[in-house]
Formats: sequence, C-alpha cells, structure tokens
Amino acid sequence: MISIREAKDISNKMILLRLDLNVPLKNGSIVDTTRIDKILPTLNFLIEQNSKIIILSHIGRPKGKIIKELSLKPVCNYLKKKLNNEIKLINKNINEILNKDFFYSLNEKIIILENIRFYSEEEKNDYKFAKHLSNLGDIYVNDAFSCSHRAHATIKEIPKFLPSFLGLQFELELKALTKITSEIKRPITCIIGGSKISTKINVIKNLIPKFENIIFVGAMANNFINYMGNEIGKSLKEENSKNIINEIISLSKKEKCNLIYPHDVVVGKSLVSSPNTKELNKILPDEMILDIGPKTINKINQILDDSCTVLWNGPAGYFENPNFANGSVKIAEKIVEMNLANKIYSVAGGGDTVSLLNKLNVVNNFNFVSTAGGAFLEYLEGKELPGISALN
Ligand code: 3PG
Repeated sequence: MISIREAKDISNKMILLRLDLNVPLKNGSIVDTTRIDKILPTLNFLIEQNSKIIILSHIGRPKGKIIKELSLKPVCNYLKKKLNNEIKLINKNINEILNKDFFYSLNEKIIILENIRFYSEEEKNDYKFAKHLSNLGDIYVNDAFSCSHRAHATIKEIPKFLPSFLGLQFELELKALTKITSEIKRPITCIIGGSKISTKINVIKNLIPKFENIIFVGAMANNFINYMGNEIGKSLKEENSKNIINEIISLSKKEKCNLIYPHDVVVGKSLVSSPNTKELNKILPDEMILDIGPKTINKINQILDDSCTVLWNGPAGYFENPNFANGSVKIAEKIVEMNLANKIYSVAGGGDTVSLLNKLNVVNNFNFVSTAGGAFLEYLEGKELPGISALN
C-alpha cells in the first residue's frame, strides 16, 4: 500500500477521494464532527497539490433509496466553513454524471457526490457502477479506514481501475492498530456495545479465542438478556439471534473466554423518559432497556482491575439522554483512572464511542481512539479487510 504522500505528480489531477463522512445527525445538524475533522489534513494536502477533489462518501444506511434526512448537505456546509472553500454538493444521478459536469472555474477545488448509498450498486459492489465512477477521476485515494471492512463499489472495486493510494488518516489508523496487535498485553478485555448488532455478532465469535473477557453492553446485550429467559419489553433486539448466541456460549466455554452480560439494567418507557433501575426479571412489556445498572458497573470495574488491555467499542446505553448515560460514563471514568495510573492499555473505537469520549472530554486519556467501529473490530480479529486488500 502506498500513501498519497508518496504519489508522484498529482497536481492538477482529478482525485476520487473515498471518505467516511458517516457522522451522527440530529434534526439536520452534525452531533459529532470528529470523523470530518480527522480527514481535514488529507483535504488540505490535496488542495496544496492543486488537485481537483471528488469526494465519495455514505451517511447512514439508506439501502439504495434517496432519503432526504441522509443527505451529505450538512457535511458539505461544515466542510465549506472549515476549509474556507466553495464546495458543491452534486445531486445529479451518479449514473448520468460525466466529469465535464464539474470544475468549471479554476477556483473550484472540491465537489461532493451525494450519499453513495442512495445507489444500491454501492453495497452490491457493482462492477459497472465502479467503472463509471472511476472514469470521473485520474487517481483514487481511500481515506476511509472505518469503511474498509465493507466490500462495496467505492472501497473494493474502484481501485481495480485507477492508481490507488492510502489517505493520511487511513495511514495513521493502520500504524496505530498494527502496533496494538503486535504488542498486546494479556489479560485482554473487550467491551462491546452499541446498536449495530447484526454487523458485530459474528465478529464476536472470532474474538472469543483471542480475548480473556468479552463484556456485552448496550443493545448488543439485550439479545443475551432475552436468551436467558427474561422479558425485554420494547428493547432493541436482533431477530433470530438464538442460534448465534448458542454458538457464542459454547465457543466461549471451549476457549475459556469469560462472557459477561448485564446483571441489572436501567429502563425507560421511551428514549426521553426518566430512568428506573431493574433486576433482569422485572422488566415490563412497555419498557425498554436503555443502560446498564449499578451491579453491572461494579462487575465491569472488577474485571477491568484485573485486565492489562481494554478494547471498547460501543456505549453501554442511550447516552444521548443523560438519564441513561451513567453506565458509559462510569466505564470511561474507570478506564481513564487506570490509564492515568499506567495500569491498563486502552483502545476505543466506533463513531458513537468517540462521540461519547468527546462529550466527556477524555479522548486524550485513552492510548488510542479510532474513528472506526466495525472495521476496527474486524482488523483486531485478524481478518483481511476488503479495503486494505484492494489497495495492496
Ligand atoms: C461506520 O460507521 O462504522 C462506517 O461508516 C461503516 O458504516 P456501516 O456499518 O453502515 O457500513
């Protein structure tokens, strides 16, 4: 893999730049800008080289449909301000776009194509779609490490058609993660939470043989709580997860990996309601699990006390509402305390986790914070990521 810093003669070239601008949005505003801020050095570098930049990115999971709320418009507006540059968001159907459609004036340096996942061809890794996109540029740069676990057209297929390079942030993430995997100290504890259940549950099976403890929190844990015969009311849950959990439990016994899920929880009737701490067998049909309870926090603290490395991906609850943020805050505080005492090596990853750590202002008290979620876990698992193989 070659970094864009080492590419020769990129001035005046059209750069197809794949970014992960998948930032959390609320009522059309960006809730956490970390992912955008981290790729600014790549944009500035390309601007300095006099390149013309065509940004490709997705936001959310529109599944091949145009969803107004998942437009890249807020991202475009934020980038305009940060770079003090005119940036156009191109809404025209990508399949009909030709490269003579943009960069009319000399001052025009950056355009963004509207959410690439508005086209089902992206997730299907469609050959024709990728070839058409590749015709728009001279060079391809991937600065979306956090998407490199997806075998999608703008990640896996485009590099087949163009000279392809690593972006600056991709390079940084890769260097840090390589260091972590080669120097990891045992016992290792992985805390997995968040709501992207379907994308993580299989990864877990691969982590079990490698880690001493896996702690399930957030919506991820609801599947286990339910599996153990408890009512989980209106809580988020993965359909048909029973067989996967069976497999996870028997594998963890075989590999002697400790599986931990909540002993108690905090529920609410809705996302905006007040909190109520409950034993697992007391959850009512009209309630939803929105955080872990105090007994669970104590158990997690004990496990962390005996760990030398912690990898954290996904908050423990719906931390956007302070009523349900306690579990995530307490985990963060414990890790920071141990980190400051040099007792643990701490790595956190994932968009929501980064938002949480930013909110608590503790990003700098972790050894490494990756903006990647799924890609971060799959990399740690030792899997070959499609975005990395494509650049190789
Ligand atoms: C992420 O948020 O991890 C990346 O943007 C990938 O998103 P995805 O899980 O929807 O593919």
